[in-house]
Amino acid sequence: MKKIIGSALTLLTATALLAGCGGTTAPTTTAAPADTTAAPAADAGKTESKSIRVGVSMPTKDLQRWNQDGANMQAELEAAGYTVDLQYASNDVQTQLSQTENMISDGADVLVIAAIEGSSLGEALDMAKSKNIPVIAYDRLIMNSDAVSYYATFDNYMVGTVQGQYIIDQLDLNNAAGPFNIEITAGDPGDNNAGYFYNGAMDLLKPFIDSGKLKVVSGQVEFEQVATPSWATETAQSRAENILSSNYADGTNLDAWLCSNDSTAMGVENALAANYTGKYPIITGQDCDIENTKNMIAGKQSMSVFKDTRKLASQVVKMVTQIVNKETVDVNDTSTYNNGVITVPSYLCEPVFADANNYKELLIDSGYYTEDQLK
Ligand code: BGC
Repeated sequence: MKKIIGSALTLLTATALLAGCGGTTAPTTTAAPADTTAAPAADAGKTESKSIRVGVSMPTKDLQRWNQDGANMQAELEAAGYTVDLQYASNDVQTQLSQTENMISDGADVLVIAAIEGSSLGEALDMAKSKNIPVIAYDRLIMNSDAVSYYATFDNYMVGTVQGQYIIDQLDLNNAAGPFNIEITAGDPGDNNAGYFYNGAMDLLKPFIDSGKLKVVSGQVEFEQVATPSWATETAQSRAENILSSNYADGTNLDAWLCSNDSTAMGVENALAANYTGKYPIITGQDCDIENTKNMIAGKQSMSVFKDTRKLASQVVKMVTQIVNKETVDVNDTSTYNNGVITVPSYLCEPVFADANNYKELLIDSGYYTEDQLK
């Protein structure tokens, strides 16, 4: 089943490998937005990092990636001399809201927030704005607020195009007669990233669906139909079980399952293991979570998208330092991420294609995982 991946993806991958975060892409710079022009109010005028307090709010400890993001942020911020208030919110919006308010009451000078639900932090953000505390949206854009100073993330649309292009290349959709059967699983509707992942992939796959070369047997194509609240593995699994028993139990072959990330791919993989005996489909993912990487090595997941959380953390720590020192802040995108109120100056890191052929170089040689973790 292994094929040489098409030139577009190869080029994308090569570029991504070279560029990473803060690599070959020349960043533009921007001054701090009007509402946070000053350095953090609580320490205005202070340029040393020593006593600056950074509140870091992560969505949940349940998914591996956020544990890594939190740990990397804490380590890097502390190494730079900051005091860190790191909180995980158990995927509960109210918890994240009150944790963020507590960070502000406890004297946070800068906030870094990976929102559970992009639009649900209004009160805490109003509080931050009234105290002139800069807010960096981490990985996920915070919506409908002018209190967001900067956004640092991976290129979310590109994550989707890498997944979509992979399916096109593996099924050789430009040349093969088809038709091929496909199913789709997307992410959490409350997470602004989920739409970017879905659109990136679907912008490439939709023409093949429209022409009939790709057939979504379940008929579930629209984002609302394929979304997975909270990105939960169990939810993705039970939807996949229903789809398999309703559409594939008669021996219909499934060629590909587009999954927006690893937690949803895991649900699909679990469902396939118990409910499907045909030719194993191509399955996409994102994050290179340990269990999914093991599945890639075992041939149960075809690819993932590696988002090196160390690089995102470094970029955000750089942003914090630039804000604190009243320097211009490195951004490389000032037009894509409108949150409904403002277009947030952003730094996009490049995601990297990963599969069973390159995981060693990407994940082990780079020190992201040890070989033992993947056994
Ligand atoms: C992140 C993904 C992650 C997903 C579920 C998204 O916002 O960008 O990397 O898989 O959330 O946690």
